[in-house]
Amino acid sequence: MHNGYQTKSVTLAQGGTLSIVNLDSMEHTVTSDARDGNGNPLFNKFAAPGSTTSIPAVSQLAAGTYTFFCQFHPTVMQGTLTIEGGSGGVTPTPLKFEQPLFIPPILTGDHIRIRMKQANIRVLPHGPLTTMWTFGGTYPGPTISRLTGHDTKVTFVNGLPLRAHAVTIHFHGDHHLSKHDGQPSSYLISRGHARTYDYPLTDAGRPERAAFDWYHDHRMMETGRNVWMGLQGMFIIRDGMAAKLHLPTGRFDIPLTIANRSFTSDNQLTNPFPRHPTMAVTGAKAPPGDGTVGAQILANGRYAPFKRVSAHRYRLRLLNGSNFTSYNFRLSDGRPLVQIGTGNGLLPRPVVRQSILLGPAQRADVVVDFHGELNQRVVLETVPRTDNTHGGADTPTAQIMQFRVTSTAADSTRIPATLQRAPHIDVPTRIAKTWTFNVAGDSTSGAYWTVNGRPFDPNHVSFRVRRGTTQLWRLRNASTVTHYIHLHEEQWHTVLRDGKRPPPWERGLEDTWKLDPGETVRVAARFTDYQGLFMLHCHMLDHEDHGLMAQFRVIPPRTTSTTTSTTAAKVAQVPRPLPSLLTPLAYTRLPRLDVGDAVFSLRPQDLAARQALAQRLWMCAPRADEHGTAAA
Ligand code: C2O
Ligand code: CU
Repeated sequence: MHNGYQTKSVTLAQGGTLSIVNLDSMEHTVTSDARDGNGNPLFNKFAAPGSTTSIPAVSQLAAGTYTFFCQFHPTVMQGTLTIEGGSGGVTPTPLKFEQPLFIPPILTGDHIRIRMKQANIRVLPHGPLTTMWTFGGTYPGPTISRLTGHDTKVTFVNGLPLRAHAVTIHFHGDHHLSKHDGQPSSYLISRGHARTYDYPLTDAGRPERAAFDWYHDHRMMETGRNVWMGLQGMFIIRDGMAAKLHLPTGRFDIPLTIANRSFTSDNQLTNPFPRHPTMAVTGAKAPPGDGTVGAQILANGRYAPFKRVSAHRYRLRLLNGSNFTSYNFRLSDGRPLVQIGTGNGLLPRPVVRQSILLGPAQRADVVVDFHGELNQRVVLETVPRTDNTHGGADTPTAQIMQFRVTSTAADSTRIPATLQRAPHIDVPTRIAKTWTFNVAGDSTSGAYWTVNGRPFDPNHVSFRVRRGTTQLWRLRNASTVTHYIHLHEEQWHTVLRDGKRPPPWERGLEDTWKLDPGETVRVAARFTDYQGLFMLHCHMLDHEDHGLMAQFRVIPPRTTSTTTSTTAAKVAQVPRPLPSLLTPLAYTRLPRLDVGDAVFSLRPQDLAARQALAQRLWMCAPRADEHGTAAA
């Protein structure tokens, strides 16, 4: 792996055939940098491990030189194709920023209703609209913006096409009841039904810190498809700090969801997802080579948009909403991105950065200063990361969107030297839990991702945490590829990264960490308010859907007084809820996996059989009470 193209430069007579032989055990692509007016690469071929294919599009090209790269390994795999002689043929269209940036509608009510439905979206600048699955008819969905501490109810109505099945919505980065967390196989919203999620926006009785979170589907084994189809939106929690610190607000505060997608020649989303998904995967898409990459990078759902701005400071809320790809963001004129926060609130002090690496689900709250740039054009781009020493996830080279500085505006904003400290916790010295991420099985019988040796099992709880305790956890990547690990429910302090003090941009609170191969982070958080099941998983959605997920259960605190311990005992006696949508009968028939963390003996074929069975049962035997209330 990572040897790259053996033939780095190829010369071909016009009309000739280019063949690819993939000698590797991983999938690769041969993708041209040159594009057409919609940003479609002039050629883009996926090569399965061990396969030989040709690229028909190459035979159509005009004479010239075309650089190409692998979408999975854009930095380490690059090459050049020269087409000689001939006349006519397909020529590239230079990148133009032709369409205005879309700003999703903002919803601020205390009871918000969002209907999920199929809608046609202007994503590419030319040709037909793209059919997507949307929150409320836009992609990305509306930005929910709420004042902290103010209870917020969001009713999601499933008006999606039948093949979307039941969905479940997770408010990523927030703290709320287990049953309102978007559980992957329970509390689902089936078609024609609705579910109301309740978000108090408080923590231990106090308003939460301001944050810049997001919401998305979280259905077991189908999250990747559902997010790719469009089910993602931003959720901003405000407090008084922005005004107090004189940070840019209002029209100077821009949400930016960056996510890639691939399109067919009639502008429709490609569908790289299997009809009947399983966690154990065979063939070309088997872990560790699984990944859904898009050829076009979209900003707020549009390809190569522009935004007219003033020579003023702007706050950009950068969310990497991609299924799989990481980006190393930078501005084309070299001006710095001043990072003031993560997704989980402000940093203790601003950090001046030339580029910012964000993996899937990670966010960076940045201030960009366009003073002195009147009549200039500044492009937000992604460049290769320079810190990738372990063979981890590469970042592509591409221009994403253009800022056109077209006016001046009086500016009273500032970037203060100190921002906001993360709330103090007493970090325990003892590690309460180590979570190790790896891969198992093989591509013939089925490969899958594991957490502490086992793939996701909705019937298995990997760890119990007492409410009220402060936990020190260790996240360890034992595999050969990068993961972006997300912990639900609490917001965490990064205590150590690879045994050292974390970099300045990791000194706020976090919910998703980069773990390159061999990396370890130690994180700490206090568990407050809620009991029940919560998830942890890789946010590279192919990994999540293929097993890299586990659950922990928050259990009642240890108590000394008799009255409370009776209550605690009662709570503890409540039977473990059946996995959703399974009738009690179906549940007992389901093959059981009675393996502890220490001995792992699940055979891949068992897993596949189990998944197939579970899949059938979940689709066919819905339990009415798990399905939410009927939509009005
Ligand atoms: Cu953003 Cu568990 O998800
Ligand atoms: Cu991963």
